[in-house]
Amino acid sequence: MIIAIDGPAASGKGTIAKRLAAHYGLRHLDSGLLYRGVAKAVIEGGRDPADRDAAVAAARAFEPGRYPASALKGDDVAKAASQVAAIPQVREALIAFQRSFARTRPGAVIDGRDIGTVIAPDADVKIFVTATPEERARRRLLELQGRGEAADEAAVLADILARDARDTGRAVAPLRQAPDAHLLDTTHLAIDPAVRAAIDIVEAVRAGRKPA
Ligand code: CDP
Repeated sequence: MIIAIDGPAASGKGTIAKRLAAHYGLRHLDSGLLYRGVAKAVIEGGRDPADRDAAVAAARAFEPGRYPASALKGDDVAKAASQVAAIPQVREALIAFQRSFARTRPGAVIDGRDIGTVIAPDADVKIFVTATPEERARRRLLELQGRGEAADEAAVLADILARDARDTGRAVAPLRQAPDAHLLDTTHLAIDPAVRAAIDIVEAVRAGRKPA
């Protein structure tokens, strides 16, 4: 089984994807880490993430697992990731890895921006996870504070809105809900009920029912 989870920053898609994978015994891939890894390599090489040639070279030389996830979590890396992710050749260089991950038995849950639309358009179940920008900013702020990073709510919201605009506005593989994806709005859902709602969607699709 392949489950595609897409949605904007801090919508809860990563946690939902991880928990769904554990629940169904599937492998999990956070595809954002691939773009973050490319961005990190560009920055480490002293180049600008907007530098097309540097970003494409880094994507073509990409090795999964080069950086631990903890080294890729920062908002500076997230911002650079959304810059490199807008370059078509960067996305192209990362497609084969994602598709082969999806195809490997027993199947996978992959979360990102274009999983249901580009990477796995034939996924068995597609879920588009969303929440209002204000709620997503509140969550991101709590996460930053939890890591002991100083942050300002207005700045975090501005960051989220800028990244949403870049992700939905880019020409190639923009963030959007696939026509056959099920919408899961987590604005008023804590993580446990959100995961429950995602499992209910998967179960309904597998049983050939229309999710509630
Ligand atoms: O966790 P968060 O949603 O903040 O970020 P992420 O999922 O790690 O993604 C970081 C950036 O990578 C996003 O803003 C996108 O620009 C890009 N990305 C993408 O273009 N396509 C994907 N499948 C995953 C991430």
